[in-house]
Amino acid sequence: MKKSVKFLAVCLAAAAMLSMSACNGGGASSGAASDSSNSGVGTSTLDAIKKNGFITMSTNAEFEPFEYKDGEKIVGIDLEISQKIADKLGVELKVNDVAFDSLIPEITSGKADFVAAGMTADDERRKNVDFSDSYFDAGQAVIVKKDGDIKAPKDLNGKKVGVQTGTTGDKYCTNEEGTSEIKVGSVERYNKGMDAVSDLIAGRIDAVVIDDFPAQKFVEKNSDKIAKLNDMLTSEQYAIAVKKGNTELVDLINETLKEMKDSGDLQKIFDKYLAQES
Ligand code: ARG
Repeated sequence: MKKSVKFLAVCLAAAAMLSMSACNGGGASSGAASDSSNSGVGTSTLDAIKKNGFITMSTNAEFEPFEYKDGEKIVGIDLEISQKIADKLGVELKVNDVAFDSLIPEITSGKADFVAAGMTADDERRKNVDFSDSYFDAGQAVIVKKDGDIKAPKDLNGKKVGVQTGTTGDKYCTNEEGTSEIKVGSVERYNKGMDAVSDLIAGRIDAVVIDDFPAQKFVEKNSDKIAKLNDMLTSEQYAIAVKKGNTELVDLINETLKEMKDSGDLQKIFDKYLAQES
């Protein structure tokens, strides 16, 4: 009996400590995505970022031309946009490269201030993060073997299709809600789009469903073996994701995007990466 009373006391003390630190908003947490509700007590998210001298962006650098590795360096359209966001705050840009399906957790856990990853703003994701204004119109494209029998999206019915895990291409092909027009036979999931393309070339799958510009880049590099269908499966819009309720940061990102759109800088960046033969 005595023992269990003592145990209860320890539990209560631990619970009190836990709830105290929860009230502090995680206390020791760095500039990454601190809660904007702190703004009333002096340290807003943007103040914290400025004080730390850096802002953290997470991405998945397997998605040329939006983010990819050039040697050790991560480059691409989203990196250029992210740099402008950091410049606007006068801080350094730090980049985390993680699996695509870990990007939303990067934000919800506070490891990243924002995600720029050619990420489509959709309602399912909106349950967990907030999105900026959109900065690019995209869609899911289909890559096939050059001399194969898939000539149009409808030929995908019943076929074995490769996708990048957790993407909108994965969602479309998996078709959990039964709303997709095409009913593929089976879905193979890959961490990297490139691995799906390699399996297509090797004949292990029949097609790859991935966003149109990355698809174009993959085809450019293997144009003797693979091709992209003209018709797309979906139409989507890319946006930058932040922690839910972080209006201060989303406003700053929207301002940056607007300036880049108005000045023509954003278009110049697209032209530079989309025209580039790789
Ligand atoms: N637009 C798609 C989506 O939001 C694919 C994005 C993949 N991005 C990447 N960096 N791998 O699901």
